[in-house]
Amino acid sequence: MHHNSDHFQRIGEKCEFISEIKNLFRKIKYLEESDKKNKPGLAPATGLRHVRRELKDSEIRYRRLFESAMDGVLILNAVTGNIVDVNPYLTELLSYSHDELLGKKLWEIGSFKDVASSKTAFKKLQKKGYVRYEDLPLETKNGKKIDVEFVSNVYLADDEKVIQCNIRNITEHKRAELKVLESQKALRMLMVRLQETQELEQKKLSSELHDEIGQALTSIKIDLAIITKSLPKDCSEGILGRLNEIDSIIDNILMQIHEMALHLYPHMLDELGLIPTLRWYTKMFTKRLNIELELKSTGFRGRMDSVSETILYRVCQEALTNIAKHAQAKKIVIKVCRRKSVLELSILDDGIGFNVSKTEKLQYPKHGIGLLGIRERILSIQGNFKIESAPDRGTRLYVTVPWRKREHVQN
Ligand SMILES: Nc1ncnc2c1ncn2[C@@H]1O[C@H](COP(=O)(O)OP(=O)(O)OP(=O)(O)O)[C@@H](O)[C@H]1O
Ligand SMILES: [Mg+2]
Repeated sequence: MHHNSDHFQRIGEKCEFISEIKNLFRKIKYLEESDKKNKPGLAPATGLRHVRRELKDSEIRYRRLFESAMDGVLILNAVTGNIVDVNPYLTELLSYSHDELLGKKLWEIGSFKDVASSKTAFKKLQKKGYVRYEDLPLETKNGKKIDVEFVSNVYLADDEKVIQCNIRNITEHKRAELKVLESQKALRMLMVRLQETQELEQKKLSSELHDEIGQALTSIKIDLAIITKSLPKDCSEGILGRLNEIDSIIDNILMQIHEMALHLYPHMLDELGLIPTLRWYTKMFTKRLNIELELKSTGFRGRMDSVSETILYRVCQEALTNIAKHAQAKKIVIKVCRRKSVLELSILDDGIGFNVSKTEKLQYPKHGIGLLGIRERILSIQGNFKIESAPDRGTRLYVTVPWRKREHVQN
């Protein structure tokens, strides 16, 4: 972007140039008059010449700044509102010629006509001496919409009130900002979609493992039992031993499949709901980790819709996994509480904690995506997600989601 705030500020200093020039004029007048009085008919004194040169330099400096500025500058007569001067950048920006603008009032120009408040703003400016718009929509002569930042000041130049307006084109800047916001939104949606797809896949795989492979293995087991029973009495111990071994291998595989299926998606979530599933999960978790855990549920009646239930279950799963991975905690308290139309879930641990804002600034893979993922999922069901933690202070994860009743039992 071509403009920077330094530049903008420098334009602002132009008013000083103007008063400088006006002062020089005053000096000249004074010198000329005293010249006439004292030495009529003589050449101007050296002092006068010096002041004239100063004036010329000052004018050149001012003019150059005015003309090369990469921001629009507009000078108005503070009493009438007539445009006294306008720099090339602004005529180009608005597609008006210098002559089309000169002598007009601000609100007579198409660009400012839309701003119904132009007149009011002018009144306010006359009264307060300062107005600023961070984002003012304008239209150029050929109908192009642009956005500008508009700052104007009133100042006194040789007893005459002048208004200087600095106008910065922020159209590109705004467009870029909008693009960033849009792509952020798209990314967040993508993240939620990805998690939804993953959830569906896991659910499907879990069912297949449990129902199909599990069923097939069970029928092998049954067949194996039939074969074992129907073997002749004098069958060798070796064969019997082998058959028993196969049976226990199948048992082992069944157990593993059962665990895998549960890990992918616990179908009891659909059948029994959130609290029983959490009871089962936390029991398994504490057995594995040898950690104290309390699960309190209050006011929880009925069933939530299955999307919310699944997300809340995943939140607990991620929180507990995080505790196991990072916290070195001794005790965990999970509270699930329904307050009318809101469900609150909090997970507290007494572990080592962490600096939340510092961790959030880290980027993947230094920072995981567990918390990020659940935050987005919670937001996708209009919930709130908060994490409070500090080194040596433990961690508390706090989630609220609107209570959405389950319409029918979805499987
Ligand atoms: N209960 C906790 N106690 C201490 N630190 C935690 C706790 N939960 C999260 N953290 C810190 O926050 C970081 C981010 O957690 P997050 O779940 O997003 O990522 P991760 O667990 O590192 O990786 P991922 O979840 O992607 O496998 C962790 O790396 C850890 O430093
Ligand atoms: Mg994690």
